[in-house]
Amino acid sequence: MCGIIGCSLHDNSKYNILSQLAKLEYRGYDSCGVTDLINNQFFTFKSTNRISDLKNKKTTLSNLSIAHTRWATHGNVSTKNAHPILSNNGNYSIVHNGIIENYDKLKEVYLSAFRFITETDTEVIVNLFEYFCKTNDEIDSLYILSKLLKGSYAFIILDKKSDNMYFMKNKSPLIIGKGQDIIIASDILAFDKNVSSYYRLNDFEYGYIKNNKVFLYHNNKQIKPSFISFIYSNYNNQLNGYNHYMEKEIYETKDLLKKQIDFKFDSDIINLINSSKRIILIASGTSYHAGLLGSYFFNHLSNIESSAYIACEFEYFDYYNSDDLFIVISQSGETADLIKIVNILKNHNHNILSITNSIINTISTLSSKNINIDAGIEIAVASTKTYTLSSFILYKLACIKNNLYDKRSVINCIAELDNIYNSTDIYKDLAKSIYKNKNLFFLGSGYDNLICKEASLKLKEISYIHSESMSCGELKHGSISLITKDFPVIYFISDNGYKNTLNSIEELKSRHAKVYIISTNNVEIESDIKVSSTNDLLSFIPFSIVLQFISYYTALLLNNDIDKPRNLAKSVTVL
Ligand code: M6R
Repeated sequence: MCGIIGCSLHDNSKYNILSQLAKLEYRGYDSCGVTDLINNQFFTFKSTNRISDLKNKKTTLSNLSIAHTRWATHGNVSTKNAHPILSNNGNYSIVHNGIIENYDKLKEVYLSAFRFITETDTEVIVNLFEYFCKTNDEIDSLYILSKLLKGSYAFIILDKKSDNMYFMKNKSPLIIGKGQDIIIASDILAFDKNVSSYYRLNDFEYGYIKNNKVFLYHNNKQIKPSFISFIYSNYNNQLNGYNHYMEKEIYETKDLLKKQIDFKFDSDIINLINSSKRIILIASGTSYHAGLLGSYFFNHLSNIESSAYIACEFEYFDYYNSDDLFIVISQSGETADLIKIVNILKNHNHNILSITNSIINTISTLSSKNINIDAGIEIAVASTKTYTLSSFILYKLACIKNNLYDKRSVINCIAELDNIYNSTDIYKDLAKSIYKNKNLFFLGSGYDNLICKEASLKLKEISYIHSESMSCGELKHGSISLITKDFPVIYFISDNGYKNTLNSIEELKSRHAKVYIISTNNVEIESDIKVSSTNDLLSFIPFSIVLQFISYYTALLLNNDIDKPRNLAKSVTVL
């Protein structure tokens, strides 16, 4: 979702902030913009296209700039609604990530004399700032805003007259990187090699940057930020010969899994698992699907009662106990639905173990313990390697209690992935058979049904083909009415014991559905795709790669924007 960045250089050297903004591209956006402040004048450029287009339009360079990637919430995708947005008197220019829930009310109460150019909630913030600055200094005005604004936000305001760069945040991430220069951004990925330490702002902290110094406040009192040292690593964001990041990331999975084979959990985490009577997993989207596998693993391998919940639904369930262990899973660590729940759990002193793909993020900061899956940046919006990695970490956690981790079968299972990577023609063929369809079912029973959920989400996300995942036995209770001649149905089968699956295949074949079977080699059934798995519960490893390839090649045939599917954002930072 929206990414914001502000750069304040230590001298008058000029800088193209857009190279840093491009590092936030992966979050997903539909328009972008930048403002350079030069000799008390704003120079603003916007685009409803990619950052590369903005680069072509931008004709200035400055040592003070703010920039933005917008994922539209209030107001359509247009140059007008793209940030930065000016206040009425033209003194302040803002970039904002998040949603102001009470913007209408605030507009009505304070800003009736103001003229609005955009349809955004952001314009309300910058005009409120202008409004309060008429009778207060800027810091007091920010304090007033911290009490008035409801919702999630991180914003940066550039002041034309003073050259100050003001900032404030609640719920949405904002991090200050300091070195020779100062970069303030939604994500540390936007930092450059000059950043040697960082400070992650807490909610309702605000302040300003002036002459390369940071002034920080909370509740009207100045506070000292404690910067943590930072080692810049220029993540490999090149395609390295691959056509898409999604493709590259699917191929990276094997080595990343290998790296985790011997990973040892720290003793606190082992104690947490061993002493848990019940484990509740919470996440969104693909991470939720990893959570579903996790709960299956805990139930089957450790006899610890476990269930998984979708983050945005969790608050509607209240049957959990004070001694439950909560495992929250999030690739980005910034998913607003999950942050909301983590905050509630934290306020009730629950044990929270998070599984994230970095250590510097909101969710890992809020949790009691964190496991970093360390999969490297995932740029494609569709999660691939992080699904497999998070599921693998959950598998290892579930093996702890009864000491069931069988390293040999994991090594063998991972070694077999080469066969999958070398069989792309089979996935391409399957993709060719399905890409013209409007609807499709993924069917499986038990464990395989959990795999189907991810297969369905992945296909929808990037191919835009409607698909449903369903349990084989459940189909006959209603949805079978959709089955007509040649309706495509893809089965995942990892276990001979799934009688419902075998019955369902017969039922659908007799109705002339187009049945495709993906199974492990221990299942005695003729299949379109066979994968090796050394252990039934590890089938998610080969299956995940296969389901990702099927989606990938289907979307490729449809000529879709695979890495940046429509309407989607990598990091969903609004509720
Ligand atoms: O960063 P998170 O893992 O918390 O993100 C959760 C979902 O938004 C995410 O998994 C989403 O479903 C992906 N685009 C799936 O490919």
